[in-house]
Amino acid sequence: MSILTPDLLRELVAEARLAPSVHNIQPTRWRLVGDGRLALVDDTAVRAPVADPAGHDVLVSHGAALEGMSLALNRRGLAITAMTTIEQPLSPRFAALCSFAVREGVARDPLADHVARRMSWRGKFAGSPDDAAALAQLAACDNVTCLSDREAIAEIAGWADQAEFSFVRGDDYRHELLDWMRLSPSHPRYLQDGLNRDALAMNAVEATAARFVLGGLFKPLDRLGLASSLLADGAKTASAAAVVLFSRPIGEDPLTTGRHFYRAWLQIDQAGLAACPISALADHPDFNERLRRLGKIDADVRLVNVFRVGRPAKMPKPRHFRLPVERLIV
Ligand SMILES: Cc1cc2nc3c(=O)[nH]c(=O)nc-3n(C[C@H](O)[C@H](O)[C@H](O)COP(=O)(O)O)c2cc1C
Repeated sequence: MSILTPDLLRELVAEARLAPSVHNIQPTRWRLVGDGRLALVDDTAVRAPVADPAGHDVLVSHGAALEGMSLALNRRGLAITAMTTIEQPLSPRFAALCSFAVREGVARDPLADHVARRMSWRGKFAGSPDDAAALAQLAACDNVTCLSDREAIAEIAGWADQAEFSFVRGDDYRHELLDWMRLSPSHPRYLQDGLNRDALAMNAVEATAARFVLGGLFKPLDRLGLASSLLADGAKTASAAAVVLFSRPIGEDPLTTGRHFYRAWLQIDQAGLAACPISALADHPDFNERLRRLGKIDADVRLVNVFRVGRPAKMPKPRHFRLPVERLIV
């Protein structure tokens, strides 16, 4: 009899879905494909083509979901085995990206305990006397470089605003972003996907302002030179205990990169810190290069993403806005 019963699959998917995905678009589905194997399925209808034209972040998101599945299995003494990564169309909408069997008997992974706690923290950070110890713990982890010099962080905060604004100036980029934002709790998918006001750490007034600034008022405000300061996040980045560079070997399969991206984020949580990615810094070639130099990143390694990390004044209660499990098993 297969280990993966329908009930167990639902439990596993409920945990795997807590993995991060770009704009919280959640492109990953799951399907039992016979012989006790489980396939990770790409829902090709779920994309952010302007922010992610090459589809790299979607694949990284799938990789994070795969790691989420691996950690959910680990909590039950199970592990992924006999993985094949041959892409296989299942229907016009769905494609299996990989499939694997499940085996018993595996050592406990301490990062599994952090899955339910990890979340994006998009508010400000408060300095804490414990930050130095937390950063020392983080600095010892694989794939991350911690930049904690205050002047460097202040400079990077300015770069982040410039990088973000260079993308936000694109009309298509703003339209797509607004489409994935749920700025009012009355949005029908407020609790399910995309970026809602709670996740964005915005109150009702800030959310209404964001709708106008990113919407119809953007161009007049930009002509007056006001849009960039209204959208700036620099104070939040400048309040971080550190900026963390996440890098992986050049040419690595993005599914593998995504698995490590999620693990790096869980390690940040394990160190007692909260985090928010700043993809614009990694996606902008000029700022990517500046950060590579600052972090002395080796030539054979790609700077994949950047986090600001620190401790909020009060550690937030974990919350996750996710699609129902039934929608994720196809
Ligand atoms: C590849 C990737 C890139 C991301 N880039 C950003 C980003 O630039 N800014 C941001 O605020 N969140 C970013 N996120 C975080 C997602 O928006 C977040 O994981 C998602 O909304 C789910 O929320 P949670 O992390 O609180 O569970 C990124 C996530 C992934 C996987």
